[in-house]
Amino acid sequence: MDQTIVSRPARSRAPAVEALLDEIAAFGPQDAYERMLPAGCYTSPEFFAFEQKEVFSRSWICVGRVEQVAAPGEWLSSEVAGEPVLIARGEDGELHAMSALCRHRGEIIPCPEKGARHARCPLHFWTYDPAGRLTGAPRMGDAARLKQLRDTVRLPQLRLELWHGFIFVNLDPEAAPLAPSLAKLEPLWAGYEATGLTAVPPVLSDTPLPWNWKVQVENFTDAYHPEFVHIGTHDFAPSVGLGDGVRFTEMAPGDNAIVRSVPMKQADGGMMRDGWGPDAAFPAIATLPAEQRSRITFAMLPPSMTMMFAAGTIAYTLIRPVGVEATLAGSDRVTYGGWLLPRSTIELPDFLERCAAVREGGSKIWAQDVPVNKAMQAAKHSRFMPDGIYAPSERTLQQFNVWLVEAYCRAAQASSR
Ligand code: FES
Ligand SMILES: [Fe+2]
Repeated sequence: MDQTIVSRPARSRAPAVEALLDEIAAFGPQDAYERMLPAGCYTSPEFFAFEQKEVFSRSWICVGRVEQVAAPGEWLSSEVAGEPVLIARGEDGELHAMSALCRHRGEIIPCPEKGARHARCPLHFWTYDPAGRLTGAPRMGDAARLKQLRDTVRLPQLRLELWHGFIFVNLDPEAAPLAPSLAKLEPLWAGYEATGLTAVPPVLSDTPLPWNWKVQVENFTDAYHPEFVHIGTHDFAPSVGLGDGVRFTEMAPGDNAIVRSVPMKQADGGMMRDGWGPDAAFPAIATLPAEQRSRITFAMLPPSMTMMFAAGTIAYTLIRPVGVEATLAGSDRVTYGGWLLPRSTIELPDFLERCAAVREGGSKIWAQDVPVNKAMQAAKHSRFMPDGIYAPSERTLQQFNVWLVEAYCRAAQASSR
């Protein structure tokens, strides 16, 4: 019974999904750059199910940070493509990712308390070690039977990869490694990591945001909107009008980072109580190159995370879709936290006040995004939804469209084989 997750056999897809995939498959080479996806990709529950089963289950999904499972006996629970998962650090120091479904009759095993040596199923108290091996199964028979179960039963093990302390899990045993797909972000890290960077992880919102996950990340990556939506909170980091303004990166095949950077009006700025400004609550990091102290880089890592490389912090948002129009997220904008910070910042005597200031500034920006996201989601139901026309500063949206079209076509082929 030692097993890994196996793809389900191909099934015929729902007609609504087939129609949307046909429409996308008919896109010409330029279409993904020039028009938006069919609105049904944002509103159809069947398409959402297809996306979860066939795209998210073949993607690297960020579930948290190494700081959350720093020592043996620390556990983390999450969901990947709708599958409950557990992450644990074994006695040998190894990190393990596994399905959280008990091998007895499938009850979902909750996250154990910190320090627990075993995960325990709540239904009949079968227990598992941090590597997912069965350790106990009450009243299942004599010692020989228990030994036989212990020798053979293990929670299905999942692919796990660490990237700069972020824990990514992939349900696809054949998935290509993550790190090469994020190579374009490597040059950004050096000046931060010299500082003993430590995470203040976010907690995911417990109330879903009422829009599709793609609306969430499109809003993040859209360089065109801050000038109009974020008047007063984002003027300090404009996409236009200063030097060369917003910059984009090219997308190579297999890239999983969609990146833009914008200048700040003054070096060493960052998030303050009123949004982006010169007196950053998190002090600028001295080891960053001048270039990074004068710009903010926004990176989307579809489909589960967004990041902001700023002068004083790397801020990140974790995203978990729970329905076609229901998305959980966690970051300084939505909840609190989601920062990688130098030790020297965390040790400041007024650190918590600084965190509160960043949270306040982030939430003011977020309060401006919420109504436009709600309205964009509502528009996806309209018969008058346009195909769209992209502005020069919407390069990242075009790149995301291409990422999606490729992912959908790949998934459609894989699941029909
Ligand atoms: S279902 Fe887990 S112990 Fe029975
Ligand atoms: Fe915004």
